[in-house]
Amino acid sequence: MKAALSSVPEKQQQDSEFLREVLEGLGGKRKTLPCKYLYDEVGSRLFEDICEVGDYYLTRTEASIFANNLRDIASEIGRDALLIEPGAGNCEKVEALLAVLESPRGYYPIDISPEILLDAERRIKANLPEMQVWSEVGDFTQPGVWDRLSMIPSRKRVVFFPGSTIGNFEPEKAEELLEMFAANLGTGDGLLIGTDLVKDSVRLERAYHDSEHVTEKFNKNLLSRINSELGADFDLSLFAHRAFYHQLRKRVEMHLVSLKKHSVSIADTRVDFSEGETIHTENSHKYSVSDFNQLLARGGFRPICHWKDSADSYAIHYAQAI
Ligand code: AVI
Repeated sequence: MKAALSSVPEKQQQDSEFLREVLEGLGGKRKTLPCKYLYDEVGSRLFEDICEVGDYYLTRTEASIFANNLRDIASEIGRDALLIEPGAGNCEKVEALLAVLESPRGYYPIDISPEILLDAERRIKANLPEMQVWSEVGDFTQPGVWDRLSMIPSRKRVVFFPGSTIGNFEPEKAEELLEMFAANLGTGDGLLIGTDLVKDSVRLERAYHDSEHVTEKFNKNLLSRINSELGADFDLSLFAHRAFYHQLRKRVEMHLVSLKKHSVSIADTRVDFSEGETIHTENSHKYSVSDFNQLLARGGFRPICHWKDSADSYAIHYAQAI
């Protein structure tokens, strides 16, 4: 496993990057914060809780599509494949698939957390002793973490990108990400990717404004994180969680709404909020199968097939690099 815990200068650099992005996002006319910062330790745990919440159907539905179509998916991937998983986390979703693939070449998970990857690697090796695992620590949107692939000869590479994570990228960025995947694949190599589908707004909005208030905690944790890591003084009780489906842009937007006019200080900078003003914290794009097929084509892939649940809520697509 190639891993290194952050050194002190690296941590300082990350903090100043965080501060710069926070001040930039809150300094604009429309206030925004990058959604990647939702995932500190607390946020990642809250996201795991969201996946268990009744209203958040995505994780459950994707798991059922996998369970119902595992053999079919494995046969589409074919034999001798090296599975690459960007943002693998605890690698839980991939295990059942690895177990049914025909003579897999191995597994190449990429994640920013060395601890989570190490645990996952141990578990996979215990459950599937024959499986070769090359864990790579880093940000999968950066080219460096893909370099080691060139040292692993394989007949076929397949990028596995479940969880509708592609939906958190703006469409142009999603296209660039697909292009980056394609650049690390050869013609005919595969992409297995999950997307949440366009559907009625009531169901979508409930998924992001759940009755157990877990998504609210997840969203507000971003302000707690800015308080504790950047010494800000956000009063969380002065913000409300809001999530709504934007019909035209086909995305669920997540915001934090200021409940009254007030100011917040962040590292010597004062940020003013008017009543009702929002901080836009996340977009979650929804696709129809045909819209997604077009995105795949723009990103350098030929759509081959897809699997859906019976309510057409969610899709897992298989595509080949052109
Ligand atoms: C990680 N990602 C796919 C989730 C989503 O559905 O967009 C993040 C999330 N945000 C609020 N709830 C879940």
